[in-house]
Amino acid sequence: MARVVLGVTGGIAAYKAALLLRLLTADGHEVQVVPTANALRMVGEATWRALSGRPVHTTVWEDPTEHVELGKWADLVVVAPATANLLAKAAHGLADDLLSTTLLMATCPVLVVPAMHTEMWRNAATRANVETLRGRGVVVMEPAVGRLTGPDSGPGRLPEPEEIHAAATELLHPLADGPLTGARVLVTAGGTRESLDPVRFLGNRSSGRQGIEIARAAAAAGGEVTLVAANVDPALLAGLAASVATVSTTAELEAAVAGSDADVIVMAAAVADYRPAAVAGHKLKKAPDGGLTLRLEQTPDILAGLVARRRPGQVIVGFAAETGDDAASARQHAEAKARRKGADLLVFNEVSETRGFGDVPNEVVMLDAAGTAVGRAAGTKAEVARRVVETLAGLRTRLG
Ligand code: CTP
Repeated sequence: MARVVLGVTGGIAAYKAALLLRLLTADGHEVQVVPTANALRMVGEATWRALSGRPVHTTVWEDPTEHVELGKWADLVVVAPATANLLAKAAHGLADDLLSTTLLMATCPVLVVPAMHTEMWRNAATRANVETLRGRGVVVMEPAVGRLTGPDSGPGRLPEPEEIHAAATELLHPLADGPLTGARVLVTAGGTRESLDPVRFLGNRSSGRQGIEIARAAAAAGGEVTLVAANVDPALLAGLAASVATVSTTAELEAAVAGSDADVIVMAAAVADYRPAAVAGHKLKKAPDGGLTLRLEQTPDILAGLVARRRPGQVIVGFAAETGDDAASARQHAEAKARRKGADLLVFNEVSETRGFGDVPNEVVMLDAAGTAVGRAAGTKAEVARRVVETLAGLRTRLG
């Protein structure tokens, strides 16, 4: 567990920092919130004190040694949201309140998350300040693109709290520290295809991107990774530090997985649930009556088979994309599936939940075998992959 200074400046998005604070404290981190005077006009002192369990100060006069101590105390400083003014002050070393002095004192990693109007973000002064800060090793996140305060939209939105949390976690516990060192990791990705005849197949739209990102993150975490790729574009595999086995059908994917004794198996592939009961040896001709009836048979549930044969200490991860229907919500379906499948982790895509402005490429909730949420992630597929790998590495430590 780490000690985090959460700096909050006076942007409209300051309320999102309260959600970030909850994510950080839920991890067990000690968080000292340092709002600026303007931030307190957006979200009051009582909120920060209640959520962090610690008193909050904004000036150096309330406790004259605090700015020195906080800078030394912190394992990480996060500023979210960071206004253009904060970027300018930090870039030029100004120190006129507790947050800016803490930034000058800090020798730990610093994560700055800007939020402002597009014009301010694009202004040459801001560009230069961001460049200066990045040049000094400060991690400055790119703002999200979407609706801003008022009617305009563009780059400048504060990224979602889950994305900031993932970036903060990466700085505190880099995958480069190797949480999967020595682990053999098998990841399936893509979608299986089932032949109807020599030229046609039944398939699905899975690109394999999420699974490939998981393979990348697992390799970055020190794992010895094998990717079983079902019908993915080979260009997506560029630079991947993994051995790759290509498969096409569910039977091929099952054979590739069944023989594996990996320590971690991630079933990210979209596996066909049905396949034609018989594959025509020749190209099917158009029927004279205009219709075609296919007889399909169910494929084996590979994930269920893995769970049934799981050896002690092995971690098995499934994926589920769900939509709500008349019977239950997407989340309820996912929870039922988590209990039915019994995987250590079921990564559930809330495909029915609208997150607003279409700027978040993926959002997942991670459920344990009892259907209880044990983690969330949102952001790019790479960011989601990093969170999934962190979570499964933590699980492996607990199981091992
Ligand atoms: N899966 C599998 N074998 C199958 C079908 C799915 O191993 N024949 C795995 C997928 O790789 C994924 C998980 O099971 O990790 C959930 O896939 P999904 O298609 O959502 O599950 P189903 O059991 O097919 O449930 P549904 O009835 O909702 O289609």
